[in-house]
Amino acid sequence: MAAETSAKQTLLDRIHDRTAVVGVIGLGYVGLPLAMEFAKAGFHVIGYDVSERVVSRLMSGESHIQDVPSAEVARFVRSGAFEATTDESRLHEADGISIAVPTPLSKTRDPDMSYVISATEAASRQAHSGMVIVLESTTYPGTTREILVPLLEKRGFTVGEDVFVAFSPERVDPGNPVYVTKNTPKVVGGITAACTEVATALYGSCIEQIVSVSSAEAAELTKLLENTFRSVNIGLVNEMAIVCDKLGVDVWEVIDAAATKPFGFMKFTPGPGIGGHCIPLDPHYLAWKMRTLNYKTRFIDLASEINSQMPAYVVEKVAHALNDERKAVNGSTILVLGVAYKRDIDDLRESPALDVIRLLEEQGATVTFHDPHVPCIREDGHVRERVELTDERLASADAIVIVTDHRAVDYQRVMDNATLIVDTRNATHALVRTKARVVSLATVRPTPEAIEA
Ligand SMILES: NC(=O)c1ccc[n+]([C@@H]2O[C@H](COP(=O)([O-])OP(=O)(O)OC[C@H]3O[C@@H](n4cnc5c(N)ncnc54)[C@H](O)[C@@H]3O)[C@@H](O)[C@H]2O)c1
Repeated sequence: MAAETSAKQTLLDRIHDRTAVVGVIGLGYVGLPLAMEFAKAGFHVIGYDVSERVVSRLMSGESHIQDVPSAEVARFVRSGAFEATTDESRLHEADGISIAVPTPLSKTRDPDMSYVISATEAASRQAHSGMVIVLESTTYPGTTREILVPLLEKRGFTVGEDVFVAFSPERVDPGNPVYVTKNTPKVVGGITAACTEVATALYGSCIEQIVSVSSAEAAELTKLLENTFRSVNIGLVNEMAIVCDKLGVDVWEVIDAAATKPFGFMKFTPGPGIGGHCIPLDPHYLAWKMRTLNYKTRFIDLASEINSQMPAYVVEKVAHALNDERKAVNGSTILVLGVAYKRDIDDLRESPALDVIRLLEEQGATVTFHDPHVPCIREDGHVRERVELTDERLASADAIVIVTDHRAVDYQRVMDNATLIVDTRNATHALVRTKARVVSLATVRPTPEAIEA
């Protein structure tokens, strides 16, 4: 008890007077913005990453994350408030460590915990009495207790007494101009009450609202509920798009009308599929965990099935639209507009555009792409450069497929020049109609008579 009181109190005091040093393991989409928040709050921050490239770019004052301005990184590097390193031993100087490393799925769609394990091993090798370690990576319920705690105990620590361990899911929404790390409420759940208290104090020093929950498992499951909720609702509206297509009803009109209900409805929009490091992957962490308990998570599986079929549905739409013009996909020139997984960001991870391009090419199309945020696509050793969006290119393409509706694109210009547009995001609905034929996710195909006419 005395050890807990002294280690905990010393740590709380150091957090309070900002003499605590904060370590962040993994300086990507999640870790770098978090490191910046800690630096802004007055802590000395040591960012540890295994990538030499990431570290040297950051130390030269250059940010590789769109939401973090280079000027901010440069300012904190210059002032000494932030330093990035590949030297694991520097973590020993930290009083608080946040782990924000990837949690991908293996080829068989099981959790790949290798990054979390190696980051935790690094943290526990450098741990000392009076340190708090918080896992941020999205994962299955039980990870913090089953992976972090034993690794620390193996090194002789007693969690909740001399070291403190918690889970706090990152909720970063890349490209969101309103909600950033600082003003997005943060859920924190510790292994013990003392762990929750210490982690809450650490995050509360730089984030406006902390939501403490009773356990690490509750915090882990909170994140999975949030992302499963999105996946299931996106699956529902994607199915609604297919339903509307078959019924000859405009899905966007139906969704907008439903969204006028002031209670009990939350607007989600259909699209070409889901992407990013979260929604397509995270629910599978829960599904996997539940399989180990002999329970099948049916909502997760069904949403995943519908969402993952959307790129093929889009390609089917393109094929029908070309067919209506007496053209085949094979031999057509198709320009994919927008390849990032969502609007106004540069992230290609799990982007449905990659599937759309692959499926079109498998059917013999010549595919190019334009994306104001993505200069090139690197896949399996191949680099595909974006093309410029010229009037000639728009006019000569057999079809333009709008996969991501970035705001930086002039869609009226696309309408003015194109002949056929497959618009999976409803980006063109409010534009002045031109000779371009626009096919939406849910458009009734013209009857043979209409085509003849
Ligand atoms: N990107 C998002 O929008 C988002 C949102 C919420 C939660 N998350 C979750 O946060 C976690 C991190 O995701 P991300 O998008 O920041 O990943 P990322 O790929 O952008 O960054 C991860 C960084 O960790 C580094 N790294 C990998 N292994 C390491 C190790 N053993 N030691 C030190 N550094 C290591 C990598 O070099 C990379 O720079 C994931 O679990 C993800 O599911 C991501």
